[in-house]
Amino acid sequence: MGFSFVEVGSVTPLPQPGNPKPRVFRLKEDLAIINRYGFNSDGHEAVYERLSQLPPPGHRKAVLGVNLGKNKNSVDHVQDFILGVKKFGPVADYLVINISSPNTPGLRNLQHREELGKLVSAVVTARDSLSGTHKPPLLLKIAPDLSDDDKKDIASVILKNENRIDGLIVSNTTVTRPLWLESAERQEVGGLSGQPLKSLATHTVTDMYRLTRGLIPIIGVGGVASGQDAYEKICAGASLVQVYTGLVYHGPLLVHRITNELEDLLRLHGFSTVTEAVGVDCKQ
Ligand SMILES: Cc1cc2nc3c(=O)[nH]c(=O)nc-3n(C[C@H](O)[C@H](O)[C@H](O)COP(=O)(O)O)c2cc1C
Repeated sequence: MGFSFVEVGSVTPLPQPGNPKPRVFRLKEDLAIINRYGFNSDGHEAVYERLSQLPPPGHRKAVLGVNLGKNKNSVDHVQDFILGVKKFGPVADYLVINISSPNTPGLRNLQHREELGKLVSAVVTARDSLSGTHKPPLLLKIAPDLSDDDKKDIASVILKNENRIDGLIVSNTTVTRPLWLESAERQEVGGLSGQPLKSLATHTVTDMYRLTRGLIPIIGVGGVASGQDAYEKICAGASLVQVYTGLVYHGPLLVHRITNELEDLLRLHGFSTVTEAVGVDCKQ
């Protein structure tokens, strides 16, 4: 389809069914989705079985990320992520610590300073202790609904040398509901994605790029459905871009459209590579 990387998950340690159906809603008039899946997952063992049939890291045509979640009923949240790092470290090109899904009670509290410090230090230690030479980068996936203080705290925790996280994914879905949403389903409980999330997610990319002084690579995600959208995420500070809801509304040809449009936009603005454009809006 033209993607250069794919991310699977969120995967929970034990299998769990997620929330009762219906749990995903198309907001067609708004080119958006609200979901409250609540991590329906086959669990580590089943997902590991599937992924271990692929060629190993370094021998694949595309980059594979594994996004780690926690079970709804787990008592030790940190332990769930440590288990994920140990299980999927050997088969993933990168790992995501997802602490920003709105559909798992308590998960987003892990974004607060003290808890985040403990979590990050535990997962970095688990990754560094993996046997062999393959030690995949660890990325943290954050919400778009953070206060300025939350964002500062996250930046300061992940910039500490001993806690060094390799990247951020910005952002997950929002629990906010812009007043201008038109679709009947707009008051469904869950996380909102797609077009109405776009500017909120891009602002969060800008904030995190500034707070981390461009030292931590950012994957920009939220409402991307054109080359222009991808270009805005890159200028805000993203080195890579992901798409989810856009694919639901525009179909598989979207990927080539985005990359073609992006190439034209980069050239138009005098850039010869994506790297040159990363964060330019924050440097003015
Ligand atoms: C149906 C649905 C399920 C999702 N499940 C997860 C998930 O399990 N883990 C996660 O980190 N993000 C999940 N997301 C969030 C997306 O990965 C992405 O961060 C968000 O939707 C914003 O991007 P988009 O506007 O391109 O959809 C989900 C999004 C949707 C629409």
